[in-house]
Amino acid sequence: MDRRPIGIFDSGVGGISIWKELRNKMPLEDTIYLADSKNAPYGEKSPEAILQLSIKNTELLLQNHCKLIVVACNTATTNAIDYLRKNYAVPFIGIEPAIKPAALQSVSGKVGVLATRGTLTSALFHSTAKNHAANIEILEQVGTGLVELIEKGQAQSPEARNLLQKYIQPMTAAGIDHLVLGCTHYPFLIPVLKDELPVHVKIIDCGEAVAKQTHKVLQQHQLLNTDQREPSYKFLSNTEAEMLSRFLKDEPGELQIKFLDF
Ligand code: DGL
Repeated sequence: MDRRPIGIFDSGVGGISIWKELRNKMPLEDTIYLADSKNAPYGEKSPEAILQLSIKNTELLLQNHCKLIVVACNTATTNAIDYLRKNYAVPFIGIEPAIKPAALQSVSGKVGVLATRGTLTSALFHSTAKNHAANIEILEQVGTGLVELIEKGQAQSPEARNLLQKYIQPMTAAGIDHLVLGCTHYPFLIPVLKDELPVHVKIIDCGEAVAKQTHKVLQQHQLLNTDQREPSYKFLSNTEAEMLSRFLKDEPGELQIKFLDF
């Protein structure tokens, strides 16, 4: 039994989609969430820059006594998780585009992946694709501009819709039957995607799987908190806390949302 918080980081608001799943699955756990919005989007940075930002976020979470870190960002996971696991003692949970379940379920043999440039050019993405989706065709698309719009609270704007139409059209024309959301910001686009995708195309997002895996790893390391008290939820943003507050406005319970210059 361990009362220390779970640490979570992302380049901004995207990891909130993961935080919600974590809280649903483990309602007794305290969490600290870092939104590194000042440095968003990670997806257009070099692998070295993404690694350095991931180290900075990890160290801040460790200074805050986190017992486990969820890298709630595909771009940071695919570029930095090996390093983080080798260099820090706490367990890390990463998130990668869910091409394995999509490949297993695909009937057309064609799966679309919408992700950042940083994820799609990473060695980890390519080895996962080779190991788990060798028999299917993967149609990759960089979601240029989407993270910036989502960070500004414009996920449902005409601009976001136009970009999505442009990005998914070649994939649907090629016959995909699954679209993998390979960036934790993209679940905020699901209402627009549902409008724009043919009904038979299934959207795959792996937030729930990440929460299950986090629970399993906490259990294996005897790190679960079983203390029946009100959990504490801290959110730290290095731009303005306002946007985080807007994304979290419908969440029940007491949330501490603050600015911190990290
Ligand atoms: N939310 C992130 C991801 O899952 C990063 C997006 C970005 O900053 O480019 O990839």
